[in-house]
Amino acid sequence: MSDDTRTSETLAAIEAATSADAVEAIRIEALGKQGWISQALKTLGGMAPEERQAAAPRIQARREQVAEAIASKKAALESAALERRLASEVVDLTLPAPDAPRGSVHPVSQVMDELAEIFADMGFSAATGPEIEGDWHNFTALNMPESHPARAMHDTFYFPDAAPDGGKMLLRTHTSPVQVRTMMAQGAPLRIIAPGRVYRSDSDATHTPMFHQVEGLVIDRDITLGHLKWTLETFLKAFFERDDIVLRLRPSYFPFTEPSVEVDVGFAIEGGRRVLGGSGDEPGHGWMELLGSGMVNRRVIAMSGLDPDQWQGFAFGVGVDRLAMLKYGMDDLRAFFDGDVRWLKHYGFSFLDQPTLSGGVGARA
Ligand code: DAH
Repeated sequence: MSDDTRTSETLAAIEAATSADAVEAIRIEALGKQGWISQALKTLGGMAPEERQAAAPRIQARREQVAEAIASKKAALESAALERRLASEVVDLTLPAPDAPRGSVHPVSQVMDELAEIFADMGFSAATGPEIEGDWHNFTALNMPESHPARAMHDTFYFPDAAPDGGKMLLRTHTSPVQVRTMMAQGAPLRIIAPGRVYRSDSDATHTPMFHQVEGLVIDRDITLGHLKWTLETFLKAFFERDDIVLRLRPSYFPFTEPSVEVDVGFAIEGGRRVLGGSGDEPGHGWMELLGSGMVNRRVIAMSGLDPDQWQGFAFGVGVDRLAMLKYGMDDLRAFFDGDVRWLKHYGFSFLDQPTLSGGVGARA
């Protein structure tokens, strides 16, 4: 077969090829190392100069012709494949989006949001304070001076360094120092809640070294224990979403309140579980200690820069984790902070479960 015939046959084969593989096979046969055009090019080396001058352009022209045909066929096949794909693949925008893993809101965060919602409705704003405190704010200004035995009730984490005022630095053991800070910064009257982390060197099924409290403080003129009782009752009924919550105020002692009361709530036993509601004095019922409170001690008001003859008020402090456990039925506090996503999936809340008084502060019954 003459090389001219071979060339036209090769070009025809390229033209007829329907796949990239077929084109590649033709390329190897013609232009590959052992391909017939490559071989023809090699023979040029053994030719006499005049002969080579006559033969070389012909062979080169063939090589270019074939290479060009291959390149354009490949391009044509590729664009045809793209056309086919574009025609067959459609994006259906009406299909539901693939289900991405979704995070959830921790019960402590959820309960803090619920508290903010309930107390906002009673005119309270939210205040914050530092978790690293000086012992003046954490103890002294709350009427627990240096040698006060109540300091020993809090198993405190101390820092080795001294505070700028020379006092000890510590991780706050309660949210009560926010009372002092807010009175000093804002004066009176005021109504605040202060939710946040607190720390004590304590650890078992119901105690973790870090936990959460919410502090409440009302400072105004002519505030009485009646305001305290009404406020707590309104809060607890809204929080537990039960109108039959009954409180029992028991005399107690806190250095920063005078008088001080421990607040118990009545519960019934239903299906082996404690269910809040009703008086604890009814048969088969009981009282559960829930929070500490009282009328703010005159000394605390004075140390916070206000005149206790003009201003008085009440305060309370309650564990946020404990409120969450009671409302949503968890029984091991440690699981709150283990960081096990399975627990969080089970007990966590959707970010759409925004507590509102109209829609219900309980995200999910
Ligand atoms: N600070 C107390 C504690 O951590 C709780 C507390 C009791 C706060 C009585 C108060 C209060 O504001 O009036 O144990």
